[in-house]
Amino acid sequence: MHKTTLITGGAGYIGSHTTLTLIDAGRQVLVLDNLCNSCRESLARLEYLTRRRVDFIEGDIRDSRLLDDIFSRYDIDAVVHFAGLKSVEESVRKPLDYYANNVVGTLNLCHAMARFEVFKLVFSSSATVYGAPRQIPLIEDLGAGKPINPYGRTKLLIEELLTDLCLSDPRWTIAVLRYFNPIGAHDSGLIGENPNGKPNNLLPCLTRVAMRQVPELMVYGSDYPTVDGTCVRDYVHVVDLADGHLRALRALQNTNGIHVWNLGTGIGHSVLQVIHSFEDITGITIPLRFAPRRDGDIAECWADPTKAGRELGWYAQRDLMQMIIDTWRWQMCNPHGYRSQPGLAASIALKQWV
Ligand code: NAD
Ligand code: UD1
Repeated sequence: MHKTTLITGGAGYIGSHTTLTLIDAGRQVLVLDNLCNSCRESLARLEYLTRRRVDFIEGDIRDSRLLDDIFSRYDIDAVVHFAGLKSVEESVRKPLDYYANNVVGTLNLCHAMARFEVFKLVFSSSATVYGAPRQIPLIEDLGAGKPINPYGRTKLLIEELLTDLCLSDPRWTIAVLRYFNPIGAHDSGLIGENPNGKPNNLLPCLTRVAMRQVPELMVYGSDYPTVDGTCVRDYVHVVDLADGHLRALRALQNTNGIHVWNLGTGIGHSVLQVIHSFEDITGITIPLRFAPRRDGDIAECWADPTKAGRELGWYAQRDLMQMIIDTWRWQMCNPHGYRSQPGLAASIALKQWV
């Protein structure tokens, strides 16, 4: 029987794309998700895309009994761990929820893994652990900085927990993947980012304006010491990120200890550059308004992805244009996210768009 990769949070944005990549690579997967920020429809679409049943358990990583049941029923050899809460703004209002979900949830998961002697883990971290950058591009060896919000601090705490775990027992093999700014969607237009409630990230806000669901885009800050006064970020395609997880899982076969890899393109784009690229590609004008700087934003941030290139053979393949095209295709197919139920006809029609 094939070994199974457990994917926590596999119904979510990055998790669903990674689940697809792992299935396409021939892996047996099991998704565990409590659907607090996702829905079954993403998994239904994965089944449509892969023509395979996707094993799914609705449940919480904080439920030890459930984890014991899962690890005893399935022959799991590795865990890819996406499950967690990810809104910076919400984390400031509800720190207890973030520490409980992210930190206690991960602790609980690691306990269960240890009980069942499963020692391979890929963890979703974030460039947010670098805090205010001391130098750019950001390299892993710089070490983490001081994250400036509870969400970032939960990611840093988990990284430290995982480091201690590897020091305590050489059987653990852990990949910490620090994502920069994930955007884009699968090129089928069938899976993509589906934010609950009001989005805060640039691309979901921009596409809502393009869809005329919101009248104008607020651009937070025009006086940063950057190319055009707006913040610069390293946007990375979610399908490239998914490939990074497959490569990290493979790398864990031949190593031990903890390994940290940046997943970014190494290229920065300003907010205005993103908006103008979007306008050029889609032909849609984006009404915008300059607003004061947003609390907690840093001027510039992009990755040095050399280590992932050298050690994983991972390089971001898709440029900003591809990220925007795929984001927009997903948005047009699914103006209300997974609630839109576009069906096959819409997806085929929209394939002709680019
Ligand atoms: P997402 O919200 O789309 O996916 C997270 C999934 O985890 C959701 O399906 C949610 O229902 C599930 N989940 C949350 N808490 C759970 C729990 N206690 N038990 C079981 N399932 C639970 O988010 P995403 O954008 O796909 O992010 C995935 C991971 O990557 C998160 O850990 C996030 O912090 C991290 N990350 C995301 C970004 C980003 O910009 N999207 C950047 C850096 C890091
Ligand atoms: C944010 C989080 C980060 C998290 C990442 C992915 C903060 C401070 N950081 O990163 O911890 O890992 O999301 O979820 O929240 N912008 C606008 N108008 C908008 C929206 C955004 O001008 O309507 C600007 C922002 O000011 C920023 C840039 O666009 O300069 C990118 O913003 P965003 O997509 O939220 O990502 P980050 O802030 O880099």
